[in-house]
Amino acid sequence: MAAPTASELEGLVWSFNQIRWLFFTGLVLFGLIYYRQPQAYLIDPGVLSMSGRAAIAFSLLGLLGAPLINEIINRIPLSYRRTYILCCAIHVLAWVYAYASKFSQHGAMIQIGAMLGVTITTNILWYLYPATREAVDALVRGERPDPEKKQLWDRRNHHSFLLPAVVFLMLSSHMGAVVRANGHAFLTIATVLVLSVISRFILEATHRNGGVMPSRFRWITACAAVTVGLGAGWLAWARNGAEQVRIERHAHGPATDNRPLLAEEIVLRRCAACHAAQPSYPGMASPPRGIVFTPDTLPRYAGQIAIAVGTERMPPGNATQMQPSERKALTEWATGHSR
Ligand code: HEC
Repeated sequence: MAAPTASELEGLVWSFNQIRWLFFTGLVLFGLIYYRQPQAYLIDPGVLSMSGRAAIAFSLLGLLGAPLINEIINRIPLSYRRTYILCCAIHVLAWVYAYASKFSQHGAMIQIGAMLGVTITTNILWYLYPATREAVDALVRGERPDPEKKQLWDRRNHHSFLLPAVVFLMLSSHMGAVVRANGHAFLTIATVLVLSVISRFILEATHRNGGVMPSRFRWITACAAVTVGLGAGWLAWARNGAEQVRIERHAHGPATDNRPLLAEEIVLRRCAACHAAQPSYPGMASPPRGIVFTPDTLPRYAGQIAIAVGTERMPPGNATQMQPSERKALTEWATGHSR
């Protein structure tokens, strides 16, 4: 095998530095955004009401615990391949279950994404990086790398199967409500993880097959696509059904008054705790994104409100317990007023 050239090695070191940067800036941003406003991002009183401190502590437990337990699992002897894979699967799914049953769905998705990200990065920084250096040094000296080390290396590289899931989960807050808050947090995250593994597996098989997808995988891909489509459809349908019932209950509920719901009143009741010049929401120091709602500014934000409220992105975790009828009325108003 030809030894790598000096310029190739330079690129290698540089990319590891990038990973370090990604890791530390990621952690800082995570803390700045999610730990400053745990009420808005991590907690859903409908799932479990907990204090902001408890949520942060629970989140940190995962960020530290996942890489540590992963280290233990990685020490399972190489010959116990099945045990190793089983332990990995149980480990990940147990965390998913823990967060899906305690955090808001959005919070759980972000948390699991971050935990996988931290575990992958620690693997790279503390194992793969030094191992790469060693292997490269050996190659440069003209020696052959140790085959057992190569196997350990391959094992650590398995995390690439979860990379698509990490990207998806971390970006999930920007996706529609069917993905982000469909009420089935565990099922959704587990599906994302399984799909990530399958897609990566098929990608590798395709790569080995000279860039052509082996025909049996075409069937699997088609089946997976249809299943996911049906699943998403079912979630959307089931959710709309539940919403409909709630709206009707509301409509037939105790007759308070029959006035149509006014956008300004709804905003005052459900948004102004955060989107005010001086927010009253605990832990909210300034209006998020500088967005302050007053009767004058409201029309200006109509387009954004239509999206944020229609997709249930706002209020975060439905912190202010916005009613379905209010959501409907505000979305209709905002859609009508957006240019
Ligand atoms: C608990 C606090 C809180 C409440 C209540 C709240 N928001 Fe927000 N809002 C936020 C935060 C935090 C952000 C910034 C989100 C981000 O940066 O990802 C935000 C961002 C927005 C944005 C910018 C676009 C976007 O989607 O990020 C709009 C529009 C918005 N909110 C509208 C509303 C409306 C309308 C309501 C009431 C129905 C509302 N918000 C209630 C905290 C709140």
